Amino acid sequence: MKFRTRAIHAGQEPEPLHGSVMTPVYQTSTFAFEAPDKPRTFDYSRSGNPTRQALEECLASLENGSRGLVFASGMAAETTLLLQYQAGDHFVVSDEIYGGTYRLMMNVMQNKGIEITLVDLSDLTALEDAIRDNTRMIWIETPTNPLMKVVDLEAITGIAQKHGIHTVCDNTFLSPYFQNPLDLGVDMVLHSTTKYINGHSDVVGGAIVVKDAALGEKLYFLQNATGAVPGPWDCFLVLRGLKTLALRMEAHNQNALDLAQYLETHPAIKSVLHPGLSSHPQHALATRQARGYGGTFSFFMKGGLEAAYHLLGALKLHSQAVSLGGVESLIEHPWSMTHISMPEAARLEMGITENLVRVSVGLEDIEDIKADFSQALASLT
Ligand SMILES: Cc1ncc(COP(=O)(O)O)c(C=O)c1O
Repeated sequence: MKFRTRAIHAGQEPEPLHGSVMTPVYQTSTFAFEAPDKPRTFDYSRSGNPTRQALEECLASLENGSRGLVFASGMAAETTLLLQYQAGDHFVVSDEIYGGTYRLMMNVMQNKGIEITLVDLSDLTALEDAIRDNTRMIWIETPTNPLMKVVDLEAITGIAQKHGIHTVCDNTFLSPYFQNPLDLGVDMVLHSTTKYINGHSDVVGGAIVVKDAALGEKLYFLQNATGAVPGPWDCFLVLRGLKTLALRMEAHNQNALDLAQYLETHPAIKSVLHPGLSSHPQHALATRQARGYGGTFSFFMKGGLEAAYHLLGALKLHSQAVSLGGVESLIEHPWSMTHISMPEAARLEMGITENLVRVSVGLEDIEDIKADFSQALASLT
């Protein structure tokens, strides 16, 4: 079935007892056994819960995978995934990543004896050069948060497969509606479901989806063994959000492209980082690899910290908040907000400067969104 149909129905049958069309919230920690040696399908909600299972099956279907696993946050999904590796293993990690992922890699995993090399994954020679005998995994984010760099998933997975190395792709920015990394050879797709997948800024959650059944089983073992699972109510909300993912992504995409084009010509803006603009260095790759560009992008202002802070304060419709992917527009300053967990030198090396601003373009009327920017930018002296 097509994406929109699967987003509404995959993993979700009317409930058999009363025929409830919506998946019920099975708000229970435990399930009665028929006898000590006869558990039913579910026995304990850390190990499995029907509301969670419906969400996991729906996400697996939307990413063209065989197994989906959901977690209490995107970071919980990342941590659980990384627990399959051992001290002495080496990761190649994209040199542009979400600040929380950077912190987990550099301040937690490295302390546990994992070796990490940060690499510009758009440079395939640099990637080949970074691979060692003990390299076990390549961590990819595309487009990257917040600099919107796009990397070639097929080229990277081709190299990884040649060396027998796992690949992970954080697909949070595009969602499965626009990009399916598993179809391009990636082994594990990761999501912060907090963002577009839920779409309403009222849940924190994460997910991993894989194609390979044995890898799925290994990750399920870790999910149950470590226990960073979401509650049934959160799973219900994310399932409800998923039903409109296709419609929301189309509208986010349209609004974001429209705003990016507007900002690109504004005299107060230095440059706009949006893969849908022909000025974006990987515009052709982004257009070939994904079916859309998403709803979040960044731009550099003329002026420095003061100009950026002024803009954030002067916007009226846009809340100053981290996160992205909700129906409402949000504005943030990566230097001071989402990427503050990275040391200053690392931020600068990545290209995150004080005049960089990231916007999560919501589903409000685009004329109101542009009018808000117009009045805020006009108030800059
Ligand atoms: C690209 C990306 N990956 C992972 C995460 C972490 O997800 P969570 O905040 O749900 O733990 C975020 C959060 O902002 C993100 O932007």
